[in-house]
Amino acid sequence: MSSSPSVRYQFFDLGPDASDMYQEVLGGLQALPKRLPPKYFYDEEGSRLFEAITRLPEYYLTRTEMNLFDRCEQSVAEALGNDACVVEYGSGSSQKIRKVLQRARPEAYVPVDISAEHLELQSAALSRDFPWLKVYPTCADFTQPFKLPEPVSELPKVGFFPGSSIGNFEPDSAVGFLRNVLRTLGPGGQMLVGVDRKKDPAVLEAAYNDAQGITARFNLNLLHHINAQLGVSFDPNSFVHEARYNEALGCIQMFLRSRETQTVVLGEYEISFTEGETIHTESSYKYDPAEFIALARRGGFDTEVWWTDENSWFALYLLRAAP
Ligand SMILES: C[S@@+](CC[C@H](N)C(=O)[O-])C[C@H]1O[C@@H](n2cnc3c(N)ncnc32)[C@H](O)[C@@H]1O
Repeated sequence: MSSSPSVRYQFFDLGPDASDMYQEVLGGLQALPKRLPPKYFYDEEGSRLFEAITRLPEYYLTRTEMNLFDRCEQSVAEALGNDACVVEYGSGSSQKIRKVLQRARPEAYVPVDISAEHLELQSAALSRDFPWLKVYPTCADFTQPFKLPEPVSELPKVGFFPGSSIGNFEPDSAVGFLRNVLRTLGPGGQMLVGVDRKKDPAVLEAAYNDAQGITARFNLNLLHHINAQLGVSFDPNSFVHEARYNEALGCIQMFLRSRETQTVVLGEYEISFTEGETIHTESSYKYDPAEFIALARRGGFDTEVWWTDENSWFALYLLRAAP
């Protein structure tokens, strides 16, 4: 099957507006314990800081996953064929699809990301470097159902979700996300997912508490972003970064801890913090293969094949919509 859209590059903006953000932030800060959605880490600065994290010595995830692509490039190239549309959820720098594109030759690529400026910049660069590829960057919140660009409607779809971003969902929400993806990909749809594995908690905690303090800046950038977008009065210097492994849940939990008793103003609301009170900003669930295969099954996908590295630290799964 093939389509012949006339445009080789087009940007689609389906991003959330400020009123959605206001409601989510207010709801999270009024909850007990307080929480903020991790998607709001990612303004331009947050995207830049995340790229810096991927290069840190302690952050083994990106390096390990990139090396894993070498092991499975043949199978991935076969899964993509030469007429598919790859839909990447949370494409960031699009660094990983570049690796895949050295071997595979899909028809189109739809990078989906909430960070609009970064998405546009990275997608335009990718389009220049791979002139044979149709590129349709789509700014959208992938935690909500959204419509793919019209030019790819007739193409078979392959989902791509690297970086263990699936671990940022609570497990039941990950199942809901996979079911939405399934509807988007359609019958027989395939999906390549990168998932971090359980391991020595010291290795995990080091990855989220780097010596240079980049992860701390990334976590605190959430407050800068919310201040800029919603006019909140957070003083980021009055919060500290914290990340620790919750053994019972099997996840790294990231927090911002208030250094002092304080009040923050959000529109007509005042939000009070006691000294030491936390805002939960992100979970990063780690899955053993049996756990992830069972989760994918609940989401409607069978695991065709999976690969891991020599340390058994990270895994890549090729999933197919269950019949
Ligand atoms: C942890 S980074 C991973 C980037 C890249 N896929 C990788 O593997 O290195 C998460 C990416 O997803 C995007 N993102 C996070 N939450 C999102 C959401 N709810 N909807 C769309 N994009 C989101 C961020 O802007 C960021 O680029």
